[in-house]
Amino acid sequence: MISKYILSIVLLLPAFVTCNRSPLIEIEQGKIRGVVKKDWKGGRFYSFLKVPYAKPPIGERRFKDPQPAEKWDGILEAEIDMPQCVQLDSNKKIVGQEDCLYMNIHTPNVATKNLRPVMVFIHGGGYTVGSGQLDMFGPEFFLPEKIVLITINYRLGFFGFLNFENPEIGVPGNAALKDQNLALKWIQKNIEMFGGDPGSVTLFGESAGGASVHMHMLSPLSKGLVHRVIAQSGSANCIWNEAQKNTGIYLAENLNFSVDDEKEILKYLQSIPIDDIIKVEKKSDRLLPLHKIPLFGPVVEPLHSGDIFLSESPAKILSRGQFQKLPFILGFNSNEVLVVYAQDMLIYGELKEMPEHYFIPHQLNVTDEESKQNLFNRIKKQYKINEYKAGTEKYSKLFSEIFIIYGVYASISEHVLVDHKDLYLYKFSSDTKLNYFKQMHEDIAKMPGAGHVEELGYLFKNKFTPKDLTQNSIEGQNIIKMVKLWTNFAKHGKPTPKNNDLGVSWLKVTRNKLNYLDISTDSLITKVEPFDRKNMEFWDKLLGKSVKYEHTEL
Ligand SMILES: *[C@@H]1O[C@H](CO)[C@@H](O)[C@H](O)[C@H]1NC(C)=O
Ligand SMILES: *[C@@H]1O[C@H](CO)[C@@H](O)[C@H](O)[C@H]1NC(C)=O
Repeated sequence: MISKYILSIVLLLPAFVTCNRSPLIEIEQGKIRGVVKKDWKGGRFYSFLKVPYAKPPIGERRFKDPQPAEKWDGILEAEIDMPQCVQLDSNKKIVGQEDCLYMNIHTPNVATKNLRPVMVFIHGGGYTVGSGQLDMFGPEFFLPEKIVLITINYRLGFFGFLNFENPEIGVPGNAALKDQNLALKWIQKNIEMFGGDPGSVTLFGESAGGASVHMHMLSPLSKGLVHRVIAQSGSANCIWNEAQKNTGIYLAENLNFSVDDEKEILKYLQSIPIDDIIKVEKKSDRLLPLHKIPLFGPVVEPLHSGDIFLSESPAKILSRGQFQKLPFILGFNSNEVLVVYAQDMLIYGELKEMPEHYFIPHQLNVTDEESKQNLFNRIKKQYKINEYKAGTEKYSKLFSEIFIIYGVYASISEHVLVDHKDLYLYKFSSDTKLNYFKQMHEDIAKMPGAGHVEELGYLFKNKFTPKDLTQNSIEGQNIIKMVKLWTNFAKHGKPTPKNNDLGVSWLKVTRNKLNYLDISTDSLITKVEPFDRKNMEFWDKLLGKSVKYEHTEL
């Protein structure tokens, strides 16, 4: 008896200690209560975890546009992190669940008249992996700046991007982007009760999340839901940001379901277990090759009677200039390729070269071997590559530029050309113990600069954050710097307002001057022209874009 009694006390104890509850608040869906937490400077804030913004996208709702969440009875105890959406982990094991359309909300105050700017983060992961969970996106660095921080999940892989060109099937594509859009609508409706200002929403995202946030600027569906945008290492113009049509039929074929009636196909795909669907994903090339049109990502939707997120290509929308010209920060990291090198080292113990043809953008539609070879020879010549070897400076440059940087450049050019005025550009190269990949392998640590994803370590507390982090350390100082730039932008629409304590003025991009902020370990400096313009113009020409952007006056 006694031991059982003691056991139950011991089991309950941690719950008591952590169950430091937030005030109860009430929204249209019902009553909700979060938990009290501490930021990294010791300040208190509230977290509301796993808040549902949509009906679970299961059964007949699988693959379909998301539906607003239902009401609940009683009190929703929002204390436990949200799940991830179904995906393959790095060991190709299926993780996560289909019922995954949740968000985490972190706020300095609730039920207050003093409403705070809202920052909504959209994670990356090639539209196939990732989540907004706490282990990678902890709010502790942001909350001292008194903003409301929200991270969201959206459906991934086939679950988020299945599409049929036949509008009658009711699966026109972009369900995942509509998930994000529904989350933004939920925020408009409810965030005031959490102390957030629905009139000041900054949307930011990284990689595929960066491309996503850019597309919300272009989509009529998201008009009025967002007021500022930050696209980190990803934009709508990236080579990989365009996906295959009719993936519903592709999936059925790969499952040997040979029925012509597309309605029957959809019914079948909605009825089978998750594992069957993911198995097809497992067989397919997922993230890397550029020579094939990706299975997952945005598509231009056919005309249909439902909500259309994208009715024509981002390039077309941009060139007409018919989009919301919101204050916009874009940028990239100095050594994007490190993410791939780190994976190579962890999986193979050595760096591996990508097959050459993987570098050839699918938009060029080069199919025969000879043309591929010719094209790659041109690329090699442009990059002065004599020795095709992963880890060399030239290989790294080619990789980083065609996968990420060219897309950022192409977007900036398009925005400038249509007189979008509120544009800021950055290059991030900070290199400290916060750079995840550097911590994973000593060979990676020796390489210069910041890899893809690594700037996120300066914005979000995560499972790789050093346990002994202090504010005065070089890491701490760099976190303060990054968070300040991002939250200034969220608060004022400018990353460096007058009299800011960062000691720098981040100049806007103008029609003939590509100003950018060079963010490095030791300094913040405004410079001009972060791109290798010759290489950028090489890709412009190859991809058939007329080079209209004027040269920077140096
Ligand atoms: C589909 O059929 C092919 C050829 O018979 C077979 O190799 C494959 O395993 C089948 N796939 C599935 C998912 O059953
Ligand atoms: C790509 O090239 C093939 C073969 O030359 C052609 O049949 C196909 O229509 C082309 N596709 C596009 C999208 O241009």
